[in-house]
Amino acid sequence: MAREQLAIEEETPQAAAADNNGVAFHDAGASNKSKVTVVGSGNWGSVAAKLIASNALKLPSFHDEVRMWVFEETLSNGEKLSEVINQTNENVKYLPGVKLGKNVVADPDLEHAVRDANMLVFVTPHQFMEGICKRLVGKIKKEAEAISLIKGMEVKMEGPCMISTLISEKLGINCCVLMGANIANEIAEEKFSEATVGYRGNKEIADRWVQLFNHPYFIVSAVQDVEGVELCGTLKNVVAIAAGFVDGLEMGNNTKAAIMRIGLREMKAFSKLLFSSVNDSTFFESCGVADIITTCLGGRNRKCAEAFARHGGKRTFDELEAEMLQGQKLQGVSTAKEVYEVLRHRGWLELFPLFTTVHEICSGRLPPSAIVETVK
Ligand SMILES: NC(=O)c1ccc[n+]([C@@H]2O[C@H](COP(=O)([O-])OP(=O)(O)OC[C@H]3O[C@@H](n4cnc5c(N)ncnc54)[C@H](O)[C@@H]3O)[C@@H](O)[C@H]2O)c1
Repeated sequence: MAREQLAIEEETPQAAAADNNGVAFHDAGASNKSKVTVVGSGNWGSVAAKLIASNALKLPSFHDEVRMWVFEETLSNGEKLSEVINQTNENVKYLPGVKLGKNVVADPDLEHAVRDANMLVFVTPHQFMEGICKRLVGKIKKEAEAISLIKGMEVKMEGPCMISTLISEKLGINCCVLMGANIANEIAEEKFSEATVGYRGNKEIADRWVQLFNHPYFIVSAVQDVEGVELCGTLKNVVAIAAGFVDGLEMGNNTKAAIMRIGLREMKAFSKLLFSSVNDSTFFESCGVADIITTCLGGRNRKCAEAFARHGGKRTFDELEAEMLQGQKLQGVSTAKEVYEVLRHRGWLELFPLFTTVHEICSGRLPPSAIVETVK
């Protein structure tokens, strides 16, 4: 057994984290190993940490410890979430009942969590990323590599900005993406699924990310199309909202399949208008058609949109999110607004009736039934 593995068994991560005054954990003899930090600890963030932690123990080129930044919360019993994760090895709020792996160390101090990492995995709801990036400027290793598992975009005066671009530009580091048909709770149960890594130029870096995530129950492949992969992951949440409206109105499977097909067509057209480099083949990867299917069948965006339509649009998405998701965040409603802003600004609204209508329904300007009227 490797010396590091032995060390992990002898000393709990909590104990090691407690006396870790910024000194790398189990670092002796491990300086050429990659250290991974997961920035985010929601539902998918916790599952990503579990996957990575299991591989880090097996692969000699990765440091055993996987640090996970936790946005600190006080639980209803008064305990701190990060402390409970380190005591129980479970994220009791966002992934209850699942052991993360004893080499996952929850760290509520963002700067401390990233300080020694050469591989940074970003996985928070997209609306928090601008603030997180600001806090990380000058705090990470210069040679660090990043990957974003975040679905969403920022819309600025000068146009849309993908989250991987935000990370690259703010932090001055390369950033790949990982997207796919990946409902976190199913992967937590180790049910088979696939994912797609999108990379820009350096295949070696992409292969390193594939190595870190790939598992017998989580098959990862890489394509050289960051924008295509990221836009698939982002835009499918808008289609899932439309699918939820169809479910809430009890319109049946044929209608839902039509919405999925029209949605996929708009995803492809929108992505290619924004980035001419986007490949058609990307839409046939896990991040494309497979993610559309799983998100429109399961997933929180579909679920909340179904409830919205059942209530005839009389309850807001904010209320439904708070009531139905227990702290998890909806992405589709804000992404629909962001996409709408891009379409309006560029004069493309009429080219994208499904995307446009989803936002108009979410903002109360049209009834849920408009979802099928406008795409005919
Ligand atoms: N859950 C899934 O099945 C799934 C699958 C694939 C991709 N994703 C994507 O992963 C990303 C993260 O989603 P998730 O499911 O891990 O999160 P989540 O929605 O389950 O949890 C929300 C997270 O946001 C944190 N948070 C709350 N306020 C914050 C603040 N002010 N600053 C920073 N963090 C704050 C919470 O502590 C929590 O960790 C999203 O972009 C999502 O679209 C999710």
